[in-house]
Amino acid sequence: MLVSAKEMLTKAKEGHYAVGQFNINNLEWTKAILQTAQEMNSPVILGVSEGAGKYMCGYKTIVGMVNGMIEGLGITVPVALHLDHGSYEGALKCIEAGFSSVMFDGSHYPIEENIEKTKELVRITGELGLSLEAEVGSIGGEEDGVVGAGECADPEECKMIADLGVTMLAAGIGNIHGKYPANWPGLSFDTLDAIQQKTGAMPLVLHGGTGIPAEMIKKAIDLGVSKINVNTECQLAFAAATREYVEAGKDLSGKGFDPRKLLAPGTEAIKATVREKIELFGSANKA
Ligand code: 13P
Repeated sequence: MLVSAKEMLTKAKEGHYAVGQFNINNLEWTKAILQTAQEMNSPVILGVSEGAGKYMCGYKTIVGMVNGMIEGLGITVPVALHLDHGSYEGALKCIEAGFSSVMFDGSHYPIEENIEKTKELVRITGELGLSLEAEVGSIGGEEDGVVGAGECADPEECKMIADLGVTMLAAGIGNIHGKYPANWPGLSFDTLDAIQQKTGAMPLVLHGGTGIPAEMIKKAIDLGVSKINVNTECQLAFAAATREYVEAGKDLSGKGFDPRKLLAPGTEAIKATVREKIELFGSANKA
């Protein structure tokens, strides 16, 4: 059964570790992430962007697949199914389809409008026992056509949104989606510290988990980050392993063209990436 992300993140914040949100794209992704979380006895959040939602034929298809897989694979660790960077309308659709958690990304609106829309979703998700992530200060880089400049959030605005009663708060601290450029100055820990001082017990979310050095991840967790999103790194690992298989001519030998064989190395590579992140984030054996 899917659960809200509230309890797992409250425990993570108290226990000084972070729960990974791994974005899914298809059946192989979902299976790899669920199996790895189960093997490591870790809570996990499956992230779905609106673009990935369309790709997988709509939110109801995803809810059906994930619920079926939880039962079919005998998954017992807490799993939240979460809309990533949702619009207001997208959040409502996911709620209707059976997601257990949604993110409303109102960071591109003026703060008053972000507050109004977030407030409405606090009410709706609250009535249904679902978790809600809000965002202040856009995350840089491009994700599914959504381009953010990578700003540092205003701690006062973070407090205004946190006080609305959201479950978790994503705040820009110089992080960006996708690969980091060579001249990236790193995370702004001063900003993170100021946000944490203002928002207290609120679990903070770090987007753009791909390529952030381990030491910075650990420091971010020390400063109140309890959820870390990873997407691109699984895609890169999957692509590299698939490329290796094809370049070695394995699809041409025997039944190597069978999708169950062709996609196996990529699926194993996703598992290895998720395993490494769960270890780094400290959520193993916290289910
Ligand atoms: P990366 O693709 O950089 O890992 O970011 C993932 C993310 O933040 C999803 O919201």
